[in-house]
Amino acid sequence: MNSQDHSHSQPVHINRIRKSFGSFNAISDFTLDVAAGEFVTFLGPSGCGKSTTLKILSGLMPQDSGEIRFGDKRIDMLPANKRNIGLVFQNYALFPHMTVAENIAFGLRMRGWSHGDKKSRVDELLALVRLEGLADRRPEQLSGGQQQRVAVARALAFKPDLVLLDEPLSNLDAKLREQVRIDLRDIQRKAGQTTVFVTHDQVEALVMSDRIVLMNAGQIDQIGTPVELYATPATEFGARFVGANNLLKSRLGCEGAQRHAIVEGAAVPVGLTTISPLVRGADIWCCVRPEHISIRPSADLRPDARIVAKVTDKIYQGTTILIDLDIAGVDKMRAERPTSEASRINIGDAVHVDFEQAHAVPRN
Ligand SMILES: Nc1ncnc2c1ncn2[C@@H]1O[C@H](COP(=O)(O)OP(=O)(O)OP(=O)(O)O)[C@@H](O)[C@H]1O
Ligand SMILES: [Mg+2]
Repeated sequence: MNSQDHSHSQPVHINRIRKSFGSFNAISDFTLDVAAGEFVTFLGPSGCGKSTTLKILSGLMPQDSGEIRFGDKRIDMLPANKRNIGLVFQNYALFPHMTVAENIAFGLRMRGWSHGDKKSRVDELLALVRLEGLADRRPEQLSGGQQQRVAVARALAFKPDLVLLDEPLSNLDAKLREQVRIDLRDIQRKAGQTTVFVTHDQVEALVMSDRIVLMNAGQIDQIGTPVELYATPATEFGARFVGANNLLKSRLGCEGAQRHAIVEGAAVPVGLTTISPLVRGADIWCCVRPEHISIRPSADLRPDARIVAKVTDKIYQGTTILIDLDIAGVDKMRAERPTSEASRINIGDAVHVDFEQAHAVPRN
């Protein structure tokens, strides 16, 4: 069996997990199926219950009710050390007195692997995490990113049914973090390892995940692919939490099959490209991403101009420029345009804005 062999990976079924601390509901009714080999991320703000859910999965904390299965096998009654789960936490907690190879082999020794099997598995993992030459170093002789990859190799070594990672990248500096993100995703794909990853960093979640579970105050807000979460958030919370967004207070209007947003204070309706299935009544937020706001300078103003705005600020970012807009009587918005395109737009200009895409979420 080698690391390309996916047969050890299991689908995970989490059914109606609940957890309270006293009268506080930390997790209410958490249900999720993770496919074998899938990379799923729990994303949400501090205190929303990500680590609590992970601790319940790993067996470090009991749930109040609900079930967890690996394939057909119920595992939520088993103690942590019988669940066949690999864990990686924020502080990688490598054993400082052991070499890289000994750290990776630790779980194999505990499980009674033979010397030969151990050696070949460690070599395989060193190659997988690209640390071939460093088997005999101690953790203190490694960079943060290298230590992090040793921790991942150690968690994968015994071919667990599931690997759980809780904010494993948060101790790395920004540059290294961006690189290790991609490394970690590639390692996970090559190993075909069913993985649940926890972060409060929405970019990290978008970059790494097959699917994201967006959490808010102990509840699942939305489950979807990165594209689904970004393009079609279900709720106002999701629209605000994932990526930059402009939320315009609106009412839902219809004309035949075409649905539009009647933006408060604006003269003309805005065509909606997508609508959250949770929209029931007419009170909505019309959500427009900064990159979907096209801007025409005042010289091109047409009589049918949808929304006229005033440029209040320009923020240079290299490849793009952020353009702050004040829409009279409505709201402020922020657009993001390629620098080349934005150079002919100046602070103080009256401009005509159009929305290339607009999405509606319910307004409660
Ligand atoms: N043992 C405990 N006793 C009481 N309350 C707890 C306990 N563990 C967690 N909580 C509370 O449950 C909520 C969820 O905590 P959790 O650690 O799961 O959050 P998180 O989403 O991982 O946040 P962060 O991003 O800050 O790590 C928080 O409000 C926390 O204060
Ligand atoms: Mg946490």
